[in-house]
Amino acid sequence: MEFALETDGLSKVYKSLRGRVRALEPLDLKVPPGKVFGLLGSNGAGKSTFVKTVLNICKPTTGRARILGVDSRNPAARKQVGYLPEGTAFPTYLTGRGVCEYFGKLMGLTGQRLKDEVHNKLKIVGMSDWADKKCTKYSKGMKQRVGLAQAMLGEPRLIILDEPTDGVDPQGRHEIRDVIAKLAKDGVTIFLNSHLLAEVEAVCDDIAIMYRGRMLETGPVATLTERMSMRDGRMQLRFRTGDLPSSLPAALADANPIEGGFNISVSDREQIPALIDELRNAGIKIYEVEQYHASLEEAFLQIMDDGEHKGVGGQQ
Ligand SMILES: Nc1ncnc2c1ncn2[C@@H]1O[C@H](COP(=O)(O)OP(=O)(O)O)[C@@H](O)[C@H]1O
Ligand SMILES: [Mg+2]
Repeated sequence: MEFALETDGLSKVYKSLRGRVRALEPLDLKVPPGKVFGLLGSNGAGKSTFVKTVLNICKPTTGRARILGVDSRNPAARKQVGYLPEGTAFPTYLTGRGVCEYFGKLMGLTGQRLKDEVHNKLKIVGMSDWADKKCTKYSKGMKQRVGLAQAMLGEPRLIILDEPTDGVDPQGRHEIRDVIAKLAKDGVTIFLNSHLLAEVEAVCDDIAIMYRGRMLETGPVATLTERMSMRDGRMQLRFRTGDLPSSLPAALADANPIEGGFNISVSDREQIPALIDELRNAGIKIYEVEQYHASLEEAFLQIMDDGEHKGVGGQQ
């Protein structure tokens, strides 16, 4: 299978006057085509370094990367990719259309094809009405949308977006998400970096969680949150009930009382009906039974916490 993006022991140590920074530990990552893949991590985790190193904008210290099957040291690899760098600033004297035409020309588009593509991409990102206004007049969200239009020029099969919605208001985020979904529907692979959990949960099929230059977890969002919803392989349940009797039924020996009910874990869902029967026999009123599902945020915090305890990336 040809991966949209593949790394093999890719690592990066920045060397500066202040010393060495191990930004990326050797990483092996495979992103299958046709997915929206999210690289999630706090500020400074190494997300931007990862994409820059993959694109060979930043020279890897060890290892290598392949983009759609082509070694990324080969400039031909980058030709197939659209890229929105983190926090892009456009020249203030250009309009949104001017920015897109400039980048279009850099990639070799000319004449009518250039005009048409720029027109179409600006339309997709909802910037047609603003296309001929100077970038200085744009909000952060508008700038990001122009950046997204620029990344879509030339119909790339892989688009890499570094923090596409950072600093963008909720409405603008929603519009950017819609564009990403539309691209994904057309079969474009999207790789996005974000420290915004809800964002990633809403738009990504698969994610990797990055922490101090390592990938702690990789997989489908649902698999990750499901696993984090269980504790020691047990389902977590929350019961909302009437008052509990002072002598609890045997089934509640391991329950954890909370305001208006209790939490309890079971190893198998088949235990739930018997548990309910026993509570009812004890005269306990049951108003609600709910299975605990971790949000991506809770799963993320849990994974970070585990990483901390394992001392991941302790030595710099
Ligand atoms: N050019 C650079 N020189 C030295 N250190 C850098 C450079 N760029 C990034 N770093 C450091 O590398 C680490 C990862 O940074 P970065 O890839 O920007 O993380 P993220 O994108 O996840 O916020 C940070 O500790 C950052 O300070
Ligand atoms: Mg970054």
